[in-house]
Amino acid sequence: MSATPISRDELVAWGRYVHEICGVSLDGSKGYLFETRLGVLMRETQSGGFAELLHKTKRDATNALRRKVIDAMTTNETSFFRDRAPFDLLRHKLIPELVDRRSKSGLRPVPIRILSAACSTGQEAYSTAIVLKETLGELRNYDARILGLDISDHAVARASHGYFSRLEIDRGLTPADVARHFEPVGDRWKIRDELRATALFRHANLLETLATPPFFDVIFCRNVAIYFTEPDRIRLFRTLGRALAPGGALIIGSTESLSGICPEFEPRRYLRTVFYQKKEGSP
Ligand SMILES: C[S@@+](CC[C@H](N)C(=O)[O-])C[C@H]1O[C@@H](n2cnc3c(N)ncnc32)[C@H](O)[C@@H]1O
Repeated sequence: MSATPISRDELVAWGRYVHEICGVSLDGSKGYLFETRLGVLMRETQSGGFAELLHKTKRDATNALRRKVIDAMTTNETSFFRDRAPFDLLRHKLIPELVDRRSKSGLRPVPIRILSAACSTGQEAYSTAIVLKETLGELRNYDARILGLDISDHAVARASHGYFSRLEIDRGLTPADVARHFEPVGDRWKIRDELRATALFRHANLLETLATPPFFDVIFCRNVAIYFTEPDRIRLFRTLGRALAPGGALIIGSTESLSGICPEFEPRRYLRTVFYQKKEGSP
């Protein structure tokens, strides 16, 4: 079935609406994205055009349609150990140093808090769980918790479920990783319970206030800021800065940079990757 064409005015109105509800900024050249991604919702709601669908979405008091629009208009592309280098940083530097520091301070079991901000379907959070398991051994000797946040309900539900297709498993994992950390269930693979238990997934809009104290030792926030305008990127990284524990590390996408937009962070280099820490005395 061919997609209903979107008019110029409808594109402007939809662009504004999507930005308002999730921060994703789609310029006038992205009409095809609305046409292809909202087609199912058009049919489901029996809307005669984009203006009518927008009207119904805004009027829907349950917010169910709004959530479906968010699911449709966000890009959930992800994979296990995406870009590899940040996970080497976690494995060889951040976790050993953190455990060393916390052990010396006598805290038992040693707390470790990791945030996967914009976690999509969970591959990033479970990759960090795999690194924790392989670095620390018995996870029950630690108080290790990973929180995954994403605005897409569909992505959060999939992440919580912890089941992956062959195609997803093949992206980033070796056969040995799969044998160690997953069990086959029918034609899918389920992350093992010990790793599943370290991670919690929640719906959240990262452009709104996050109700968390300065808590996280490591924050991954990769491949989401690219969809935001510069003011929203600044807001996002300030929010994450407030959620970072003293001495904590912020890891962003390999094509992203905080230079010139967030002076409170300073870059640190480790092997092939850059991570950020808050400058001393910054709020
Ligand atoms: C391309 S994926 C990145 C996933 C993962 N971080 C990675 O790098 O593999 C971007 C994710 O950002 C989420 N997202 C977009 N806007 C968001 C917002 N305002 N708050 C929270 N998550 C958002 C999308 O739902 C999507 O799952």
